[in-house]
Amino acid sequence: MIKKTIQNIILEFEPEAKNILPALKKISAVFGYVSEEDVKIMAEYFGVSESKIFETASFYDEIKTEKQPEILIQICNSANCTVNNSFSIISEVENFLKIKAGSSASSKFKLEEISCLGRCADGPVMVVNGKIFERVTKSSLHGILGEYL
Ligand code: FES
Repeated sequence: MIKKTIQNIILEFEPEAKNILPALKKISAVFGYVSEEDVKIMAEYFGVSESKIFETASFYDEIKTEKQPEILIQICNSANCTVNNSFSIISEVENFLKIKAGSSASSKFKLEEISCLGRCADGPVMVVNGKIFERVTKSSLHGILGEYL
């Protein structure tokens, strides 16, 4: 199998401004994120500044500009989940995995606080690598995370 490179990917697109976003989405999907080196290559190919490429990438949540951890844990910290103890769930994850929310110090796990997912009646809500868990408690949390250790 031929290994995809960023050059292979961007050559699939005509060097026109309208193709910057689709190219970024594809690079992020293939490599998991868009690196600084990718931004430089794209800027040269599309004939725009690096800041224009980075600005476009940063605007969309689905395009990552940092290497992603193996396991991404996201916990809602909006009003209804907070009322249902989401902050104690965040603390429990921090203690259990020895990580801090927002820090990427651990290469395996990253914990993020996120805004409402629209599942407010079933909070606190936690997402692990895209899989949603509702009504999370301290005891159910250990079972959920145990599957990712
Ligand atoms: S407040 Fe957490 S899902 Fe809405």
